[in-house]
Amino acid sequence: MPEFAEVADGLQMPLAEAMRTQRAVRRLRVDPVDDETVLELLRLAVKAPTGSNAQGWEFMVVRSPDVKHQLARLNRQAWSLYRRFARSRARGDLGQARILAAVQWQADHFEDAPVIIVACLQGRGFPSNMGRTSHYGSIFPAVQNLLLAARALGLGAALTTLPLWSRTLARRTLGLPSNVTPCAVIPLGWPVGGGYGPTSRRPVEEVTHLDRYGNRAFLGLDGRVEPS
Ligand SMILES: Cc1cc2nc3c(=O)[nH]c(=O)nc-3n(C[C@H](O)[C@H](O)[C@H](O)COP(=O)(O)O)c2cc1C
Repeated sequence: MPEFAEVADGLQMPLAEAMRTQRAVRRLRVDPVDDETVLELLRLAVKAPTGSNAQGWEFMVVRSPDVKHQLARLNRQAWSLYRRFARSRARGDLGQARILAAVQWQADHFEDAPVIIVACLQGRGFPSNMGRTSHYGSIFPAVQNLLLAARALGLGAALTTLPLWSRTLARRTLGLPSNVTPCAVIPLGWPVGGGYGPTSRRPVEEVTHLDRYGNRAFLGLDGRVEPS
């Protein structure tokens, strides 16, 4: 499997191309991912902004089969509850059904990912809305940087939160102190199939409002909502 030096050029990928083709890659090979690759992803992750530039992030790099197995168990527990709801919502939608098949594959092979990153934040989270927004808003930009860098290297990655359904169990699994909050779990590995590609998203004109909510002026005259 490639070492970092062999794939490093991938980081020259144009930013817009990386953004357009970054998606959840859940089917991963068991082949190793070297430390230098992981550290380069994290070096790019920590270029992200944080509230007050606090940089209260901490990253767990999980390689231990035992710890991976425990994270896999937590993921399966949450997935086994959520699956029924997700399947009934996806009924008749082929795209959704494909995603759920990939989520199932990931649940069945979670511990086989060569490395799993857990992005954490110092602090327990805040009771107030503003505090909460700023708190969690201080880790997901870094997570997205990491996902984009993984995409550029051709390394499969997917953002998951199901394994964190119990913070207490997640903290226990990782040996985290009570003032460090796990926020995202990202299995990493070389993709089984093609991996990355175009994503489908709602048209931006449909979700963009001018000045006041409901004024979807960018939909234009053909849109469903007339500009006011
Ligand atoms: C906050 C957050 C939590 C997520 N949690 C999970 C998860 O637990 N398991 C999972 O398979 N995907 C998870 N995802 C990934 C989304 O399902 C995925 O990004 C979405 O389906 C779009 O798919 P795409 O990125 O492949 O286009 C999460 C994404 C976000 C932003």
